[in-house]
Amino acid sequence: MSAVQALGYYDFFAGVGMVEVALTTGWHCVWANDFDPKKAAVYCANHDPKVFHLGDVAEVQAEDLPPGAVMAWASFPCQDLSLAGWRRGMAADRSGTFWAFWRLMRELHAKGRRPPLIVIENVAGLLYGPDFGGLCEALAALDMQFGALLIDAERFVPQSRPRVFIVAADARADVSALTERDHEDSPWSDKRVVAAYKSLGSRLQEQWRWWRLPVPKSPIRPIESLIFDEPIGVSWHSEAETAHLLSLMSPTNLAKIERAKQQPGQSVGFLYRRTRVDGQRAEVRFDGLSGCLRTSTGGSSRQTVVVVEDGAVRTRLLAPREAARLMGLPEGFRLPDRYNDAYHAMGDGVVVPVVSWLDKHLLTPLARKLTIPYSASLIPLSDRRQFRDAADSRARLWLASKS
Ligand SMILES: C[S@@+](CC[C@H](N)C(=O)[O-])C[C@H]1O[C@@H](n2cnc3c(N)ncnc32)[C@H](O)[C@@H]1O
Repeated sequence: MSAVQALGYYDFFAGVGMVEVALTTGWHCVWANDFDPKKAAVYCANHDPKVFHLGDVAEVQAEDLPPGAVMAWASFPCQDLSLAGWRRGMAADRSGTFWAFWRLMRELHAKGRRPPLIVIENVAGLLYGPDFGGLCEALAALDMQFGALLIDAERFVPQSRPRVFIVAADARADVSALTERDHEDSPWSDKRVVAAYKSLGSRLQEQWRWWRLPVPKSPIRPIESLIFDEPIGVSWHSEAETAHLLSLMSPTNLAKIERAKQQPGQSVGFLYRRTRVDGQRAEVRFDGLSGCLRTSTGGSSRQTVVVVEDGAVRTRLLAPREAARLMGLPEGFRLPDRYNDAYHAMGDGVVVPVVSWLDKHLLTPLARKLTIPYSASLIPLSDRRQFRDAADSRARLWLASKS
């Protein structure tokens, strides 16, 4: 048995369990939940089915959660926060499920059992508008200090995928060894994070931390090494289908294809279809990255692989295993059998090396600090009460809108 005890955590909105793939060293998932039966089946094929609980998070009771977890992870639905979802916000049906999660944390907190570390992951849209302040208030109401990191997966895998990670730690802990003085020292705090921080009132700003996280130095895997010549689950388009896609391109995009033809060897690009005022358009990129994998319910179309070699252009949909590679999943990870389900699961998931990096450099060191006894809270009691009442009324509003 290892001398260091494994750190238990809850995986809310667990999907197919990609957080669990990333948290291999030192962590042990003690409880996971999702309400999608198809994802549940894939989760259970890859992980311990005993910890998985299928069902609506709004139905979960605090007593269902095994005691002793050090972290609660919540990748709550992003549809109402993304541009594709019209930014309906956190009072809307899907992204509002955050409030069901928060009510559980609040109940655990009242019982003295709230995990000392909470991680919330979502799209960059989470940073915009009044919802962000509401979310920070909800964390302060749990007696937590917090900060956001905006991490683009393109530093880890050849996929452009910016995601926000809000890391919240018990306000009683001294975390100064894991923070920077301000945003200028933090490579993961661009102007969107700084604007979100500035939008908070001074009492919430006092609880803000600029978490310290280094930038990876290793080069990312070349995109060509991820693409199969003979993919499983998809077929290459006919010449007519490829010609049709090319016919949807603007002169600027066709020029990119022409430039790729001039390159020696093989060039791999990615194509998206977009609906513009003048009809369907196809846009292509050859910058060594795929666009962000998204779920079709997010309103975006799937990605098409474009391979240009010896002056010839071939196209086809991205294969499920290629999508898994773009998410940094190991080859042995079992994917859903149906193409749409696999694509959906990947579009919803976390990029594994991003979470592993965050864990190694911030979460595990934080968790080790948070498991030692604390002194008094840094948030005044009157502030905490006010934050709690505000978050409570948001949670009630969302629940009332559901019934
Ligand atoms: C952004 S995805 C998280 C994916 C996950 N982190 C992974 O790596 O696969 C959000 C998940 O929340 C689940 N979900 C949405 N509403 C829910 C609810 N009311 N109760 C439980 N799960 C829900 C969805 O099925 C989806 O899998």
